[in-house]
Amino acid sequence: MASLTIRQLDEKLKKQLRLRAARSGRSVEDEVRTILRGAAADAEAFAPPAASPKNERKAETGAPRVLLIIGGGIAAYKSLDLIRRLRERGISVRVVMTDAAQKFITPLSAGTLAGEHPYTDLFDARSEFDVGHIRLARDPNIVVVAPATANLMAKMANGLADDLASAVLLATDKTILLAPAMNPNMWSNKATQRNIAQLRADQIVLVGPNAGEMAESGEAGLGRMAKPLEIVAAVQALLAAGSGVLAGVRMLVTSGPTHEPIDPVRYIANRSSGKQGHAIAEAAAKAGANVTLVSGPVNVPDPRGVNIVKVESAREMLTAVEAALPADVAVFAAAVADWRTSTNNREKIKKTGKGTPELALIENPDILSTVAHRKAKRPKLVIGFAAETEHVVEHARQKLARKGCDWILANDVSPESGVMGGDMNTIHLVTGDGVEHWPPQSKNEVAAALIRRIAATLDVKK
Ligand SMILES: Cc1cc2nc3c(=O)[nH]c(=O)nc-3n(C[C@H](O)[C@H](O)[C@H](O)COP(=O)(O)O)c2cc1C
Repeated sequence: MASLTIRQLDEKLKKQLRLRAARSGRSVEDEVRTILRGAAADAEAFAPPAASPKNERKAETGAPRVLLIIGGGIAAYKSLDLIRRLRERGISVRVVMTDAAQKFITPLSAGTLAGEHPYTDLFDARSEFDVGHIRLARDPNIVVVAPATANLMAKMANGLADDLASAVLLATDKTILLAPAMNPNMWSNKATQRNIAQLRADQIVLVGPNAGEMAESGEAGLGRMAKPLEIVAAVQALLAAGSGVLAGVRMLVTSGPTHEPIDPVRYIANRSSGKQGHAIAEAAAKAGANVTLVSGPVNVPDPRGVNIVKVESAREMLTAVEAALPADVAVFAAAVADWRTSTNNREKIKKTGKGTPELALIENPDILSTVAHRKAKRPKLVIGFAAETEHVVEHARQKLARKGCDWILANDVSPESGVMGGDMNTIHLVTGDGVEHWPPQSKNEVAAALIRRIAATLDVKK
């Protein structure tokens, strides 16, 4: 056992010790013993595992890792249940609590459920000796913020990093899932909505909020945190999307609009942005699939980790799709023009002053139906999209039968839905077995849910 000579300590420390000892009525030696006993007990019960390799959670090695950031809202108590639910499913949970969160629940409760002491302080010498907030940000598979307060989301949208939670959120390169919870007026406030739009554009995923009664008596509306099990389902969908569940699967995705030339400078187009198809391609690649994305002309960035074939017209898209076969799964998310002009004008059509030119149209090839009806090289799962402006589900059912595909993801693209070009989508999944109505979600969330559904179905078909 090492011995300690107080005389050898530096003057500043000795002064602090004398002060502490005087306050507690102990001798300096007794005070040192008390401090050491407390530190030893604290280290045993709550030492941050990252600060001490000995304390790493061996039992959960290899388990998916969630970093749960608890913000300061009434719903923080539900995060305690969330920790339990995640751990029940074999997911290891490390907790960060904001100062405000600690006014609602204690680090002791969160730590007891998580199996290790929560992190609370950006300037904690025990965990920051090796820049712990960067390790906290990098180590998990996914970062969950629940409850995500209006304040935390405002900080994230603006890149602030003035406490441990916001510094970790800025430093992480992992998927971030937010479960917002707040009073309905805070949620609908223009500033919050601006921040949400920015966060969605930054690829951050949201679950909830739900509508219902608020903690404040007599108040109801949109702002309740998603239920712990809904958050768990969203975590599992995101983990599945990033966990190699589609390893070895060959996947073909089409995305964006097509441009049908009228002459060398003009074309017929539609309002598809490519956001949904690109999100699906990226999510599939993250899940380990070997992805070929055939994309029409879009202004969204190329997804990472996929082979991209860029085309303009429907006929070029069909050629590229056929060249990309065989595939195990094909998702046709592109908004392919139904018609093109019947004449191939090599020169620009001139305005002659003698009336308007006639534009005769002819039908384009139907890419979804062509692939779904193939005898050879038909993918095991052929999935189409139905962009409808009325009778969405009914039209999708008819389309499923007509095109011969396995699933249709139907969405309402009427102008008031904001789907075309927007970040949100509400999907009705029509299969031979029936219809599933998915909640309104961001296009990234739709992509993650679709990947999970595909993975589950391929597993059954194996
Ligand atoms: C009783 C009470 C309840 C609160 N509930 C919420 C809430 O549900 N959602 C929210 O965004 N803010 C809520 N707040 C305000 C936050 O606690 C406050 O904005 C705080 O600064 C958030 O800090 P954090 O984002 O660092 O956790 C509440 C405040 C009080 C006093």
